[in-house]
Amino acid sequence: MSKFTNKDLKDNIRNSLGLNVTNNTNESYVAQQKTFRLQTELLSKSSKKSHLDLYDNYVKDFNRISAELDTVDRSDVSSNHSSFRSLKIDETYNMNSVYLHDLYFSNISDLHSEIPMDSLAYMRLSRDFGSFDEWQRDFIACCLASRCGWAITYLNTFTRSYMNCSIDLHSLNVPVGMYPIIVMDVWQHAYYRDYLQDVKTYTYGMMKQLSWSVIEQRFQKADKIQNNLGV
Ligand SMILES: [Fe+2]
Repeated sequence: MSKFTNKDLKDNIRNSLGLNVTNNTNESYVAQQKTFRLQTELLSKSSKKSHLDLYDNYVKDFNRISAELDTVDRSDVSSNHSSFRSLKIDETYNMNSVYLHDLYFSNISDLHSEIPMDSLAYMRLSRDFGSFDEWQRDFIACCLASRCGWAITYLNTFTRSYMNCSIDLHSLNVPVGMYPIIVMDVWQHAYYRDYLQDVKTYTYGMMKQLSWSVIEQRFQKADKIQNNLGV
């Protein structure tokens, strides 16, 4: 059976949009839609479904923008208004949304959540925040500080240490050089159906079910990145 590649997917999208598939020099990339099984009972079925539907739409929009960018006019670009500028802004917005949702859905909803004290995750967070509890306090504060967006624990590739950040929407206040490790969705669409405006209770619930085994793999990857950054 032949494999459905990113190029096949992209060509399908271009064809559906009536874009020229033979004459492009800027091969943008596309996102493959992933499937997530959220077992948590701290979110209702309808809330989970609507969130996953929303994610599907972000994937579709990102792929559509990516395909349009392959053929958009680059000879008449303006910072006031141009199709190229609009697409680039929307590319970042939708691309971040796809990647952040992938990371979020993968690192929540672990019904057997547990962090071993000898794990890389525990050691790195304790090292860079003073203690694991301090990381938690700072991370929760970042969740509450976001104006509808994300809280992220990330590897700062400049300082080579772990930090938390608070992002608004999908693309405002995103730190340069960030490699994301622990991701929490604090858009209202993530919790409003079940918790109304109580983002704190939602955050505490999701924190209790973080998938530390998934997060551990991310820390291991981040350590490798860190070791290869050079002097
Ligand atoms: Fe979301």
